[in-house]
Amino acid sequence: MPDAPDKLEVSLTVNGRPYRRTVEPRLLLSDFLRHELGLTGTHVGCEHGVCGACTVLVDDETARSCLMLAVQADGAAITTVEGLAPSSAQLHPLQEAFWEAHGLQCGFCTPGILISMQALLRANPSPTDQEIRAGLSGNLCRCTGYQNIVKAVRIAAARLAPGGETL
Ligand code: FES
Ligand code: FES
Repeated sequence: MPDAPDKLEVSLTVNGRPYRRTVEPRLLLSDFLRHELGLTGTHVGCEHGVCGACTVLVDDETARSCLMLAVQADGAAITTVEGLAPSSAQLHPLQEAFWEAHGLQCGFCTPGILISMQALLRANPSPTDQEIRAGLSGNLCRCTGYQNIVKAVRIAAARLAPGGETL
């Protein structure tokens, strides 16, 4: 049986910017984002798919980046929390609402929750509180008790709705 290659090339887009790197096949996507690309907004908590802190979008679907190898993302378009804000001078409505509604304390869970909630609002622009809570079920927060997170998502949904508050 031939030896497994020591390194493989991976080409992908992260937050709209193309990258090409040669990496060990065992490198996790979370570590690739953080250590190869310096995008440390993606947090790593449990490293086995439970906490959701490492959630990113892979081709617009949420994925736990600690459960994917970087080479599995070859050719994909990834969005991390760094890609949410439209510019360095303007927060995304979700970020704005989390700030206003105190939807975070230590903030460790926040990047993964923002990404999950962005996906939720895209699929369901007017979620009920129950639907928001269901959407949050893959993201653990040990600080907030979730009340203000739900409130923040509600605020962001209202602003993002057609005819809602402007961004
Ligand atoms: S670090 Fe990936 S799910 Fe916890
Ligand atoms: S704000 Fe601390 S884990 Fe959620």
